[in-house]
Amino acid sequence: MELDIYKIGIIDTMNSKGIELLKSHKNFNVDIITDLSKENLLKELPKYDGVTLRRGKLDSEVLKNCKNLKVIARHGVGYDNVDTNYLKANNITLLVTHNSTSTSPAEHIMFMILNIYKGREMFDKMVRDGSFHKAIHLQIDDNFELFDKKILIVGFGRIGKKLIKKCLGFDMKVLVYDPYVDEKNIKLLGGEKIVNLESALKEIDILSMSVPLTEKTRNMISHKEISLMKKNAIIINISRGGIINENDLNDALNKNVISFAGLDVFETEPPEINNPLLKNKRVLLSPHAATFTKECLENMSLETAQNIIDFFDKKLEKIKIVKL
Ligand SMILES: NC(=O)c1ccc[n+]([C@@H]2O[C@H](COP(=O)([O-])OP(=O)(O)OC[C@H]3O[C@@H](n4cnc5c(N)ncnc54)[C@H](O)[C@@H]3O)[C@@H](O)[C@H]2O)c1
Repeated sequence: MELDIYKIGIIDTMNSKGIELLKSHKNFNVDIITDLSKENLLKELPKYDGVTLRRGKLDSEVLKNCKNLKVIARHGVGYDNVDTNYLKANNITLLVTHNSTSTSPAEHIMFMILNIYKGREMFDKMVRDGSFHKAIHLQIDDNFELFDKKILIVGFGRIGKKLIKKCLGFDMKVLVYDPYVDEKNIKLLGGEKIVNLESALKEIDILSMSVPLTEKTRNMISHKEISLMKKNAIIINISRGGIINENDLNDALNKNVISFAGLDVFETEPPEINNPLLKNKRVLLSPHAATFTKECLENMSLETAQNIIDFFDKKLEKIKIVKL
């Protein structure tokens, strides 16, 4: 019997384990597409039955050329780089890495909080510079304990649910704002459900964003919301740039409205070289690297590849499919 051969494109490559898994499938003919320019995607993508997608924008103009395309497997969970209306209208399935993409981002949030709360590189530098004894004379008023601090987790999905356990491990108080999650489920995990975002912002020490970028969440935290926060409050955003208004954030940090921010994501990536946040000493930055651990990158690539395999083998778990 003749085999059905499917052409699979790996857009923007991924960890070799997932590539090997796809290549080992007898029904697949696999290519890696590294040129993410629109021109190249328009030219290359029409031949594929399925693609994996890391970076690269699949807008309607690119997608309408892809007459063979049946499935897009995101290497990750955010899908703001895909035109979901087009997918829905044309019956193209969108898959995400449901299992592998939350532990490292939740740890990255803790890394940022601890880094900001515990003297950042200052202490390390003092020891290296021979200033060991100077530390005892420092007026320490911007290093803090996490014990008893109030964190507000905005978005209580995969990442939010991993994060709450870590916060409770540090004896923090956890408030949760997610209108789509039941109070019962938040309470069960040790959090307190918040209905009014604005009043919660007034009482918290740490705000951490773990929501998708949508028309509702764009600029969700802007001047009005930041102005409500305490002077020593910090904001962490590992979800998507655009959820926090960068100009308003930079302005608030410069005017001492809040004290610090940790940002893994930016409105434009990479951020423009003249983006004032890059020069702001009150911001801890990372290059969209919340998933950049050995385990997470291997697992994400394996899960992405397995999603494509399960789709064509008709064994896909429903939870991997984005409801469009
Ligand atoms: N920096 C990184 O490398 C990285 C890694 C993983 C995920 N992310 C981003 O983080 C986001 C969250 O990831 P996840 O896996 O937890 O997603 P998820 O879909 O499991 O959870 C998102 C949660 O946000 C909630 N939500 C949606 N709109 C909201 C609103 N207006 N107000 C409050 N809550 C709202 C949803 O109800 C859901 O519970 C992703 O969409 C992705 O963009 C970034």
